[in-house]
Amino acid sequence: MIRDLIAKTIAIYSHKRVSKHGGHTVAIFDQNERLAVNQKTRDIYHKQHMRMEADDITRTRMMGLTTEDFFEFPQGFLRGQKVLDAGCGSILRNAIAFYRMEAQVTAMDLGDEWFNTARQNMSRYDVPLDGITFASGSVDNLPFDAASFDFVCCDGVIPHLADTVQVEKAISELGRITKVGGYLFISFLAGGGLIETVIHDAVRRFYKENSQFSALIDRLTPEIFDEFVKFALSNMHYTTKDEFDINIFKTLFDEDLCISIQNICQAEKRERYSIDYIKCLLQKYGFDDNYKRLKRYVKRQNIRKFFAPFHYYSENIYAEMLYGEGYVDMIVKKTDLPL
Ligand SMILES: C[S@@+](CC[C@H](N)C(=O)[O-])C[C@H]1O[C@@H](n2cnc3c(N)ncnc32)[C@H](O)[C@@H]1O
Repeated sequence: MIRDLIAKTIAIYSHKRVSKHGGHTVAIFDQNERLAVNQKTRDIYHKQHMRMEADDITRTRMMGLTTEDFFEFPQGFLRGQKVLDAGCGSILRNAIAFYRMEAQVTAMDLGDEWFNTARQNMSRYDVPLDGITFASGSVDNLPFDAASFDFVCCDGVIPHLADTVQVEKAISELGRITKVGGYLFISFLAGGGLIETVIHDAVRRFYKENSQFSALIDRLTPEIFDEFVKFALSNMHYTTKDEFDINIFKTLFDEDLCISIQNICQAEKRERYSIDYIKCLLQKYGFDDNYKRLKRYVKRQNIRKFFAPFHYYSENIYAEMLYGEGYVDMIVKKTDLPL
């Protein structure tokens, strides 16, 4: 209630309208403001993706996430199929996986700054440079003809769009370019729960308000964690540092964790949309009303490994308290002609 009131007040003062969905309020932007949000998002992710590309642990974890098993596809399901990775990111983690599944892959994101990093990662994974077609474009105005693709992947883009107007336009565009009988994979943050609504929201607010904290996050490295731990251990008044193995801290606070923390704080937008809200939009733009929620166990080495079971076993009572509806990976079939 108070959150809604504050968001509405901010929106009124900044002459913006607001949209409410799933108990959450989002300001509505004009098209120039949307483009500015999208561009900031691209710049932030380009930096994060280059960091991922350079770190073996993070890159290997990311590159291992997209498998036929995860999508519950029978083996060879994508062979020869036309696949689009919309909002592919700079390391092309999904596009490279689809190429390996022998699909004809197009990877699209905003601008072309990501092309070099993408090519670098393709060659690292033995993908020929002509193995994946690159396209520049925005998910709310896709540069493709209607019914161009058998399978469309839009992974992690929805939470970062500017507002509900852009989310709806994106889903209508994803519907337009997916063939009838084809599939869309879409992931978004439904959230709720202690970690998202209390901790992440507060940390993001503090990042915006406190320049010392934002400077620290922007240059966060494992060495900074190391300094922090060393200072604490050498200044504890009632214990000795011999009780702790400093190497355990090094594993728990690694490069992968630094990028995850930056991801939470820096993303220009990190909006939550309820499953019902996204489902309504999908149905409106020609997708089946039955969706399949996919699950995967993300193996991490850092401190987040203690939270991985709660991500995976979402029906557990503590998991629900911590993550609410959680992060949603869903696959839906296109059943109707586009509107
Ligand atoms: C969290 S990253 C996900 C990248 C990739 N899909 C993945 O799963 O690794 C979000 C991506 O959405 C892209 N993005 C943001 N707004 C977009 C828009 N309007 N059109 C296309 N891509 C967009 C960003 O450039 C960024 O690469």
